[in-house]
Amino acid sequence: MDSLKLSSGLIFIHLVLLAFVFNSANAQLKVGFYKDTCPKAEAIVKRVMDQVLKVAPSLSGPLLRLHFHDCFVRGCDASILLNSSTGQAEKDSPPNLSLRGYQVIDRVKAALEKNCPGVVSCADILAIVARDVTAATLGPSWRVETGRRDGRVSNFSEPLTNLPPFFANISQLLTQFRSKNLSKKDLVVLSGAHTLGTSHCSSFDSRLYNFTGKGDTDPTLDSEYITRLKKICKAGDQITLVEMDPGGVRTFDNSYYKLVANRRALFQSDAALLDNNYTKAYVKLQSVATDGSTFFKDFGVSMRKMGRVEVLTGKAGEIRKVCSKVN
Ligand code: HEM
Repeated sequence: MDSLKLSSGLIFIHLVLLAFVFNSANAQLKVGFYKDTCPKAEAIVKRVMDQVLKVAPSLSGPLLRLHFHDCFVRGCDASILLNSSTGQAEKDSPPNLSLRGYQVIDRVKAALEKNCPGVVSCADILAIVARDVTAATLGPSWRVETGRRDGRVSNFSEPLTNLPPFFANISQLLTQFRSKNLSKKDLVVLSGAHTLGTSHCSSFDSRLYNFTGKGDTDPTLDSEYITRLKKICKAGDQITLVEMDPGGVRTFDNSYYKLVANRRALFQSDAALLDNNYTKAYVKLQSVATDGSTFFKDFGVSMRKMGRVEVLTGKAGEIRKVCSKVN
C-alpha cells in the first residue's frame, strides 16, 4: 500500500515537472504579448510604418528581408541590428551588406520608447514590421506572435554559415532550412517573398556571363531573359539594382512562382526549387493560381514559424533601449 502511495506520488511529481518543462520550452511567444504592458505597441509600429512607406515604398522589400536575416543567425533576437565599432558585427558580414532599412527600425523603436520605455524588444519590432510591410503591399496579414527578447551577441562570421547563399542548390537550401526547424514547404513558401524588392546584378551575374568559368550562361535561365538582363547588368557591375519581379516589386502577390516556373527568377536558389518534386509541385500550383489565396495563407503560417526560430524569451537576453547597441 505504502509503495503504491509512493509511486503515485512520484508520478504526480513527474507530471508537474513535465508540465513545467513543456511550458518553459514553449516559453511565452504569444499573440498580444504586450496587451497589458504596451497596449498600443502594434498600432504605434503601424503608424510609423504607414508614414515611412508613404515616402519610401521601396523599403518594404528590405524591411521584410531584415527579419529573415535576423532569424537565421542566432535566432530572431535582433542581433542583425547591433553595431560594432570594429566592423565585426553580423551587419558587416558579406551576406548582409545589401540590407537596408535599419533607420526605419530605429524610428519605430524611438516611437515605442516614448510610449512604453524599455518594454518592446527590437526582435519583436522586426517581426511586426515584416508583417506590416507584407500587408501594406497588398499581401497577406497574420496575427504576429511577440515576446522575443534581444540578444547581446553579434558575430561577423555567423551569417556566412547560417544564411543560404544565392548560388545554393536544393539540397543545401533544404539542409539550411531544416537546421532552423523549417520544412521544404517553408522553403518554397518563404522564397515567395522574392515577389518584393530588388537585387544587385552581382547576386546573379555569373548566370549571365561565367556560369562554369568558361564564359558561358546558366542553361536553366530563360535565354531571352538572359539577353534582357545583360542589357541592364554589364559584367562585374556591383551597383545596379534589378527588379526581382519586373513591374511588380512593390506588390506582394504570387508572381514569383510564375517567374520561377518560366525560368525567369534571378537567383540559382530560386531556380533550384524546380529540382525537388515537392517544391516544384508547389511552384507549379501557385504559378497558375488565379488569386494568391493559398500562397497568402501559407505565407502567414511560415512567417510565424520562422519568427519562432531560436527565440530568447522569459528572462533571457534583454530589451534594448536602442536597437543598434546592447544596454
Ligand atoms: C531561400 C533562400 C534565400 C536566398 C538564397 C536569398 C537570397 C537573396 C538575395 C541574393 C537577394 C538580393 C540581394 C541583393 O543583391 O541586393 C535577396 C533579396 C531579397 N530577399 Fe531573399 N533569399 C532567400 C530567402 C528569403 C526569405 C526567406 C525572405 C523573406 C521571408 C527573403 C526576402 C527577400 C527580399 C524581400 C529581398 C529584396 C530586398 C531588397 O529589395 O533590397 N529572402 N534575397
